Amino acid sequence: MQSGKKMRLGVLGSGKGSNFVAIAQAIQSGSLPAEVALVLSDMPEAGILQQARDRGISAQFIPPGAFRTKLDPTAESAFIQALQDAQVDLVVLAGFMRILKGDFLRAFEGRVMNIHPSLLPSFPGLEAWKQALSYGVKVTGCTVHWVDQGVDTGPILAQQAVPVLEGDTVTSLHQRIQEAERTLYPETLARLAQGPWMTKVRPTSNA
Ligand code: GRF
Repeated sequence: MQSGKKMRLGVLGSGKGSNFVAIAQAIQSGSLPAEVALVLSDMPEAGILQQARDRGISAQFIPPGAFRTKLDPTAESAFIQALQDAQVDLVVLAGFMRILKGDFLRAFEGRVMNIHPSLLPSFPGLEAWKQALSYGVKVTGCTVHWVDQGVDTGPILAQQAVPVLEGDTVTSLHQRIQEAERTLYPETLARLAQGPWMTKVRPTSNA
């Protein structure tokens, strides 16, 4: 593991990258003592790759293989290798649409984090904001959690409640949740970067 003070992040995403941008902005503003070492995507045209390149951050598409919801073994090895080469302390999932299991989680044990657009354990899985709206809950939100072998089941690090308003549509509710995510994710990362977690993960650093 790399020495030095700043937490090194490897960010994985499949989509537009608004959470990545919020993290990059928090780093830029000085509120998050970290650096993004690498951005990886399973989608060649993902906005997150362009967002990273625009900021001079190394960004790479890795073909995911034949499966739809997970990485094939070759792809999984390539993701692990790239993140290890970049000496990341923490793997940050920001809209990465594939389930990570087995070898990947063993390679970064206790060091993979995700953000999910609901108050877990309610509404795990896809389109959680749609599930919340259909169910009729009055409050939903977002959750930052550690990733374990299950889907959206790992230990919870932080949550932010978001109201469901009269007349909300799938789009308006999704937007409100995403706004909350853009605050919650960088804040949670900052707590980790400044707390005992870093000393545990990187005992040789002064962080
Ligand atoms: C976020 O809403 C997050 O909750 C989910 O995927 C979405 C990613 O959006 N896991 P973006 O690519 O960060 O804009």
